[in-house]
Amino acid sequence: MKSIIILATTVASSYARAQYQVSDPHEWIAGGADDFRGPCPMMNTLANHGFLPRDGRNITRDNAIAALKNGLNFNATLGGIMWEQAIIANPEPNATFFTLDHLNVHNVLEHDASLSRTDAAFGNNHVFNQTVFDVSRKWWTDETITAEQLVHSKIYRQLESRATNPNYTFSASTEQFSIGEVAAPVIVFGDLDAVTVQRNLVEFFFENEKLPTELGWSKKADEITLDIILAMSDAIRNATSLLTGAPATAPDSPHRRDLHAGLVATLKRSTRT
Ligand code: HEM
Ligand SMILES: *[C@@H]1O[C@H](CO)[C@@H](O)[C@H](O)[C@H]1NC(C)=O
Ligand SMILES: *[C@@H]1O[C@H](CO)[C@@H](O)[C@H](O)[C@H]1NC(C)=O
Ligand SMILES: *[C@@H]1O[C@H](CO)[C@@H](O)[C@H](O)[C@H]1NC(C)=O
Ligand SMILES: *[C@@H]1O[C@H](CO)[C@@H](O)[C@H](O)[C@H]1NC(C)=O
Ligand SMILES: *[C@@H]1O[C@H](CO)[C@@H](O)[C@H](O)[C@H]1NC(C)=O
Ligand SMILES: *[C@@H]1O[C@H](CO)[C@@H](O)[C@H](O)[C@H]1NC(C)=O
Ligand SMILES: [Mg+2]
Repeated sequence: MKSIIILATTVASSYARAQYQVSDPHEWIAGGADDFRGPCPMMNTLANHGFLPRDGRNITRDNAIAALKNGLNFNATLGGIMWEQAIIANPEPNATFFTLDHLNVHNVLEHDASLSRTDAAFGNNHVFNQTVFDVSRKWWTDETITAEQLVHSKIYRQLESRATNPNYTFSASTEQFSIGEVAAPVIVFGDLDAVTVQRNLVEFFFENEKLPTELGWSKKADEITLDIILAMSDAIRNATSLLTGAPATAPDSPHRRDLHAGLVATLKRSTRT
């Protein structure tokens, strides 16, 4: 008798679980042939989970704000700002939505030297490219990735692009977007105080365009605000400098002063004239 009750309870609860999973509106489903996807791994991810329209269309202000809030706990004001920055992707005047396909137009928002997509000059600028991503992630040498390691990928991709793509384009405004993109994995998946992120979460996200829930991730309990974006972007921007401080034991070498410092002084004088 007792075992029948236990069995019945077990069956009932697993049935309930199955029902729940089937009806989960945010179940991960890859985009189909008629669905739009774009160069942003996170916009694709949000569409794959049904936080954004699964067809990748009709990304209105309200839809973007809701997706970023429900999927990632982004503050609604921040979501609105992000949408405003992207609406230029729809060439229609006074557009009220954009699609993921709009994001694919080269040199509007999409740019060269992406971490996971090849340059427009070399092929498809919006589909995930494992060859390119492998080049980026080889700099992520520890299980916990630092701001510096993320930046190594960015700088290396730019170097590779500038050296091999005669059409390499990367303006000052591209740099600001790029810094935000490099900061993004830390913001969503990482440790905001340490400015680090678990490598497995980032790789899983890029390679599957899926939220890494099955690896133990969940959206941050505290809302992500513009201030957090700015702070993480500052940390990434800082890390883009290849300079260090002077060696702690810098010898007070007269040589350095006389030769190199002298040369620098001469150059400064000659550029002034
Ligand atoms: C309104 C919201 C957003 C829009 C319109 C948007 C748009 C874009 C676009 C157009 C790109 C392509 C740039 C390139 O050529 O690499 C991009 C890249 C990227 N986005 Fe988003 N994005 C949004 C939100 C987010 C969020 C919330 C994240 C958080 C993880 C994110 C993460 C990334 C990353 C990591 C890249 C770089 C991909 C790469 O370098 O291969 N984005 N985004
Ligand atoms: C687009 O999204 C809005 C919500 O922002 C909704 O009211 C509207 O019906 C949607 N349009 C289409 C064509 O899906
Ligand atoms: C979003 O952040 C702003 C400040 O950046 C704050 O004024 C606002 O209350 C936040 N929104 C919500 C819903 O908490
Ligand atoms: C777009 O909006 C502006 C300002 O509200 C208005 O003057 C203009 O006529 C609109 N353009 C179109 C094509 O609707
Ligand atoms: C080449 O560069 C120009 C200007 O930077 C840009 O408008 C164009 O889209 C680029 N084309 C390709 C295929 O990269
Ligand atoms: C992926 O990137 C590599 C390196 O840029 C390129 O040779 C290849 O054509 C790309 N694949 C696609 C599908 O664009
Ligand atoms: C960036 O670098 C400056 C100067 O070294 C430093 O004062 C600042 O705290 C750094 N900011 C971050 C977010 O790392
Ligand atoms: Mg790109």
